[in-house]
Amino acid sequence: MDLDQFAALRTPEGSAVLAAATEVAGGDPLVAAAALRSRGVPPGLAAAALTQAELRRRAVGKFGPEAAGMFLTRPGLEQATRRVVADRRAARLAAAGVRTLADLGCGLGADALAAARAGIRVYGVEADPVTAALAAANAEAAGLAGRFTVECGDATAFDVTRVDAVFCDPARRQGGTGRRIFDPNAYSPPWDFVTGLAGRVPHTVVKVAPGLDHALIPAGAEAEWVSVDGDLVEAALWGGPLAEVPRRATVLRPGPAARQRPTDGSDGPGRPTDGSDGPGRPADSPDGPGGPATRGHQLTGTGDVEAKVGPVRRYLYDPDPAVVRAHLVAELADTLDATLADPSIAYLYADTPQPTPFGRCLEIVDVLPFSLKRLRALLRERRVGRVEILKRGSALVPEQLRRDLRLAGEHPASLVLTRVAGAPTVLIGRPVAGTGTPG
Ligand SMILES: C[S@@+](CC[C@H](N)C(=O)[O-])C[C@H]1O[C@@H](n2cnc3c(N)ncnc32)[C@H](O)[C@@H]1O
Repeated sequence: MDLDQFAALRTPEGSAVLAAATEVAGGDPLVAAAALRSRGVPPGLAAAALTQAELRRRAVGKFGPEAAGMFLTRPGLEQATRRVVADRRAARLAAAGVRTLADLGCGLGADALAAARAGIRVYGVEADPVTAALAAANAEAAGLAGRFTVECGDATAFDVTRVDAVFCDPARRQGGTGRRIFDPNAYSPPWDFVTGLAGRVPHTVVKVAPGLDHALIPAGAEAEWVSVDGDLVEAALWGGPLAEVPRRATVLRPGPAARQRPTDGSDGPGRPTDGSDGPGRPADSPDGPGGPATRGHQLTGTGDVEAKVGPVRRYLYDPDPAVVRAHLVAELADTLDATLADPSIAYLYADTPQPTPFGRCLEIVDVLPFSLKRLRALLRERRVGRVEILKRGSALVPEQLRRDLRLAGEHPASLVLTRVAGAPTVLIGRPVAGTGTPG
């Protein structure tokens, strides 16, 4: 979409076309386009309205019902933060006393809108003129234009002394191809600028890729990994007084109302955060700002403790990816009285099952050295016809193994492909209710 098309969509005629496009979007695009043209809508406007209606439909998983009034671009939507995550971050900023915030590279404004909803005055800066115009329109549609304003320009030139906190979510996709960028030095604004913000503003938050190398975490910063319904979605670096602990894993579980997976092509993670003490202890907040039914759970720690190693025991925990990426497996092990069975593999084993939001629990019924022949024979004997396959520390390809097993039978089972004390091992188990997310 260019600025002219956007302006056309904002006229009363454009709004009516957009409403008509919303009615016909979601089905066959050719049929939808023909339906609009049959009403005399010019082809350019029809195409822009249909694209917008389709993007809004896809955005519901990320933004909820508000998506219906937002203006979106495909790359902007793909890079935008999910509402449950943005709302949590905004609530934390507001609780830390932040009143004015610069969002340097605000995109379509998902994070900025969340901060504005939390009562913070947000100054958005966006280099792309169309994206900047859409972000301003999104502020208006949300009734937040008085609290979130957008200027089109280079974020590196923004005078950060005007605000008491800065948020930056640098672009991690190539303009044009939309390909993901894995090297932080190729982010925009550039990584040096982003990490240098902490020296210029007291409160800083930077959203980064969840695969961030721990070696790049600036000294003194808090690194947080966030998962939503078991999917790792982002990491954030909190600087200055916002850094409360070295590492944090935040596990969000939207309730049924908010539980819709984004369909926009985007990716699909001590001391508790409730102010109480005790490293490695989890903190829960049932009705968090991610929506009335979103459950948020946090585990914190230093990220440099090694979990103890022991034998395979009756219950296996598969830690949430936010816990694993935050290097908080040892802290989780402490809360579960669990140990690893291999020092390099993040499965935990315990004698008793405990409900936990930080991982799934399986009851292990068989442990065998990996052998396709033996495994196939055992599953035949047990009449196992369906398996879910978990793996850590195994090069086997689950789909190939599933084919090779030639399963026949009426029972389900969980297979865990892993190593125990270095040896390739398969564990057969069944899920324990009340833990983690089904895989
Ligand atoms: C990852 S997106 C931000 C998404 C936003 N946080 C959201 O949730 O909607 C990054 C944005 O930064 C913008 N950008 C990149 N470099 C910039 C710069 N130097 N100045 C201003 N904006 C920039 C890009 O155009 C892009 O829209």
